[in-house]
Amino acid sequence: MRISESFLQELRYRCRAPDVIGRYVNLKRAGRTQKGLCPFHNEKTPSFTVYEDTDSFYCFGCGAGGDVITFIRRIENLDYIEAVRFLAQMAGMDMPEDEGDRENARLRQRVLELNRETARLYFSNLASDAGREALDYLRRRRLSAETIRRFGLGFALNDGFSLPRYLREKGFTEEEMALAGMKKSKSGHFYDQFRGRVIFPIIDVRGNVIAFGGRKMREEDGGPKYLNSSDTLVFKKSRGLFALNIAKNHHDGRLILAEGYMDVIAMHQAGFQNAVATLGTALTEEQTRVMSRYAGEIIIAYDADGAGQKATMRAIEMLKELDVKVRVLKIPGAKDPDEFIRENGADKFKLLLEQSGSQVEYRIDRLRSEYDLTTGDGRIAFLGAFTGLLAGIDSLAEREVYADRVATELGIQKSAILADAEKYKQRQARRREKKQMQRLQTEIAGFNDKINPEKRLHLRAASAEEALLAALLSAPELADEVEKRIAPEEFLTSFNRRLYVAILEAVKAYGTFDLAMLGDAFSAEEMGKITKFTLDAARHAADLPEMEEYIAVIREEKSKESQADPRAMSLEELQNQIGHLAERKNRP
Ligand code: UTP
Ligand code: MN
Repeated sequence: MRISESFLQELRYRCRAPDVIGRYVNLKRAGRTQKGLCPFHNEKTPSFTVYEDTDSFYCFGCGAGGDVITFIRRIENLDYIEAVRFLAQMAGMDMPEDEGDRENARLRQRVLELNRETARLYFSNLASDAGREALDYLRRRRLSAETIRRFGLGFALNDGFSLPRYLREKGFTEEEMALAGMKKSKSGHFYDQFRGRVIFPIIDVRGNVIAFGGRKMREEDGGPKYLNSSDTLVFKKSRGLFALNIAKNHHDGRLILAEGYMDVIAMHQAGFQNAVATLGTALTEEQTRVMSRYAGEIIIAYDADGAGQKATMRAIEMLKELDVKVRVLKIPGAKDPDEFIRENGADKFKLLLEQSGSQVEYRIDRLRSEYDLTTGDGRIAFLGAFTGLLAGIDSLAEREVYADRVATELGIQKSAILADAEKYKQRQARRREKKQMQRLQTEIAGFNDKINPEKRLHLRAASAEEALLAALLSAPELADEVEKRIAPEEFLTSFNRRLYVAILEAVKAYGTFDLAMLGDAFSAEEMGKITKFTLDAARHAADLPEMEEYIAVIREEKSKESQADPRAMSLEELQNQIGHLAERKNRP
């Protein structure tokens, strides 16, 4: 769909980068820009920058960048048109719609309606004779009628065809059922993949039913214990958190993160309505960011078994990257929160919650259990590991507290432990720096360029192309002159060629260049790279002679390319090429 330029202009005028981005990111002024923690990767020191004068953003940590629309595309996980509509709504503007577009929105709406009807049917099944067994099952698991209603739990009838029949009666088409993720049998009939299971609807923060989880009632029933909807137009498993729709209103600054549906439901029923769970997948970075947007403290309440403890360590590592406090709930004598509450009651669980230690304490406990502290060797090995743990703590005061405890426990000097930790920290910092340098070098050498994968085949040409593009962006008024000197076909890498064409077109149409003029011609990831070019451009004012130098290099490489296909290079030529790379690497 084409959106009129005047509409986009108005939108840009009303949706300034600092305001829009400021709704998602806590921004602080730093000179002429604003800085904050990047919402697209986990970091502790801000490298995410918002430029007021160009209404754009760029993250020096992960390379995300672009205009306001790109930002919304990425953070709300929308395509270009959806992002424009989202911003238009935010700005109170009426979005001009076109056919294909309206159709897409309509289908999403239909899938949501279909899901709602499905949930309604499942819920009502519980009250029917055929659902008797399921209701008994839920009661056996100590769920009250109120809890069942609150979570909209249900039952999928055994036959598997009553659901598609019901949906057809309600007027849903085959296409809509397919889009909603309904499965088809070999004979081509839709059937309910959740048949015979107890149902847990998954509801997003806006109250839409977006997916389902289904549990079998007996160990001996076929299939996995839990089955979950696959991704659809309206559902992305790696983003979703079960019960966040309720927890978001009850979180008092803290969220409890559990492993299972039943744990969450049991906790809510016991009065802890700030519990959420992932949906049958390992915790993702996206989910950690979503949680950190709602709460400043997260209590991990995973299962007590080995798998749960392993997942706890992993969750701690992931959450450490964010600005949240992390605590870990220990569940003595039970396998998970659900079981503990059933056996010990809500009050005891409340005590557990209050006693849950910081993630550091949790990790120290784990270390302690790994070493034999009754022997000298064991103590030394433990201290070595503990020093590494301490070195990872940013706050000096916190480091003191834990060093003090362990020093007392082992009867040694606190100052010695702290000094070791400091040394370790410095070694770590040096190692990190080295790694970063290496990463940078491979990046410069083009081996790691995901946006322009052809760069590694045409290193010299691609670098010249990039320099030319940055120069052109710094002096768009020279576009005509540049175009006379080099045609797009002469570019060797297709990404740079596409960008070159897009810049020329923008300058022809508007007499200048602005990221927003690229519209939806580039993906959100590509926009990051282009933003980097514009930043490089802003740092210098290029002239024609400079650009001609780059053009000469591109031409030279192009002629080499037509003489010898790089894939058919001789060994000697290849060695030469590699020699060039090594030279670049060794340069300071
Ligand atoms: P659990 O087996 O610990 O679940 O798996 P639970 O909620 O405690 O279940 P009950 O008490 O036995 O009924 C944790 C989570 O892992 C996912 C589900 O999301 C479940 O809630 N899971 C588990 C699956 O997706 N598939 C499976 O086969 C098992
Ligand atoms: Mn359980």
